[in-house]
Amino acid sequence: MGATLNSLRTRLEQAGQLHVLRLWHTLDAGAQQAFTQQLEGIDWAELENMRRLVFQRNAVVPAVLNPGFDLGTAITPPCLGLGNSSNQPSPTAAIASGSRALVDGRIGAILVAGGQGSRLGSAEPKGLYPIGPVSKQNLFEVLLGKLAAVRRRFGVQVPLAIMTSSATDTLTRQFVKDHCSSGNDRSGVLVFQQRDLPALDAVTGQLLLDAADHIAMAPDGHGGMLGALARCGGLDWFSGHGVEQIVSFQVDNPLAMPLNCEFLGYHILAHADFSTQVVRKQDPAERVGVVVHSGGVYRVVEYSDLPASLAAERMAEGGLKLYAGSIAVHAFSISFLQRMAARSDSLPLHLALKAVAHLNGGVDDRGRPQVPSGPNAIKCERFIFDLMPQATRVCVVEIDAADGFAPLKNPSGAASDSPQHVHAAMQAFACRVLAKAGVAVRDGIAVELDSAAILDAEDIGQFLPPGTLIDAPMVVGRLDFIQ
Ligand code: UD1
Repeated sequence: MGATLNSLRTRLEQAGQLHVLRLWHTLDAGAQQAFTQQLEGIDWAELENMRRLVFQRNAVVPAVLNPGFDLGTAITPPCLGLGNSSNQPSPTAAIASGSRALVDGRIGAILVAGGQGSRLGSAEPKGLYPIGPVSKQNLFEVLLGKLAAVRRRFGVQVPLAIMTSSATDTLTRQFVKDHCSSGNDRSGVLVFQQRDLPALDAVTGQLLLDAADHIAMAPDGHGGMLGALARCGGLDWFSGHGVEQIVSFQVDNPLAMPLNCEFLGYHILAHADFSTQVVRKQDPAERVGVVVHSGGVYRVVEYSDLPASLAAERMAEGGLKLYAGSIAVHAFSISFLQRMAARSDSLPLHLALKAVAHLNGGVDDRGRPQVPSGPNAIKCERFIFDLMPQATRVCVVEIDAADGFAPLKNPSGAASDSPQHVHAAMQAFACRVLAKAGVAVRDGIAVELDSAAILDAEDIGQFLPPGTLIDAPMVVGRLDFIQ
């Protein structure tokens, strides 16, 4: 330990961070060992880069990655509308191509699930939030069900990687153990964890202690998936399964349709490195990033980075100029991800000013650090959509929000994106799919589609004949749920 401590001390001194050892003498041997491990895990070059950004204090995208991009002149790029018969290639050709890729096992999926349900009042992984309006299934069950429905229809298991964070890893692995077959076989699910990065004092750029033996850390953003996948061999895992295209989607959207054949088909037929689903943004205040195009560069501009005046600009016919709202369903060619993972600068850091509890901010009577009254620290994150400007070909597909976007962000009773909003969207979606299959629902009766059984209206007939009137709450596709 002596030699390790000496070299650690030297390293910390060089980095100007020796203060983190100030309570070392109060630690027992176990705590010293754990703290040493945490410190040894720090990427010092990256820390230096983060400190430089804190001092510059501009959440930036290196210009070299985006020559020619100018937000002031950005426009909405051409979008293919899902199901639009004037698309080139046609929806029929796209559906054929996407279906073939699924049947051939060329598609893999990544579920982005590093977030907690803190805004929903839960310390558990957001994926465990019970969202089914009738079934009370949690977000994981609803979303993994969609892969099961694809397996029923196409006879193939889509390899799935689930990204967790330090906050969600244990309970997510438990969920996977309880609900999925695991292992490195065709039917496997791979769970991998994104990294944490240190939070830095917003003024001094110093590391913060949140305990005598621990530095305050925060997840490195969903962009952390690129490095984390590469480190754990996840990209090879996908390749080993024959996967050529990977779709990523967020755990907070139970209506997400990452494996929609038409979307996959446009991506494949365009030979795109990066394709993305968007919904038409109606209100400038909607908290979605927008896909924009300028100087030959496509990118997603996060809602917090879009000046209000630009967000509010409208076209002559009244619609928003920058209307392509990102719903974070992206398709990547695996070769593109491999190329990007091999570079250390493929994803820039974004800075966010946050309140982070730490020892200098004071401790309560149990010795726990107190949360400061205002933001005091910088957290650094990477966003996976920052890969878009580096893609040789990008394909943007507009979907109807009613079919594929019902994000759960806010607690019960909130004005938007609350459990009530999501339930209403799931109910409306179920009623529309049922109506297409000739099944009606009595007013005020709660219905839900079992995501593992029903991919679209084609599947309804196996469970309910046309002409049926549903007049009691029901999960269609799970007859055991008739109430
Ligand atoms: C996000 C997108 C926004 C998009 C919107 C659609 C970002 C920065 N913005 O906004 O462009 O329009 O969703 O709903 O993503 N997550 C991790 N690890 C992390 C951070 C987040 O896995 O370190 C996951 C969360 O579990 C969640 C997703 O990423 O599934 C989005 O995170 P959230 O903070 O909810 O993003 P939004 O601000 O809603």
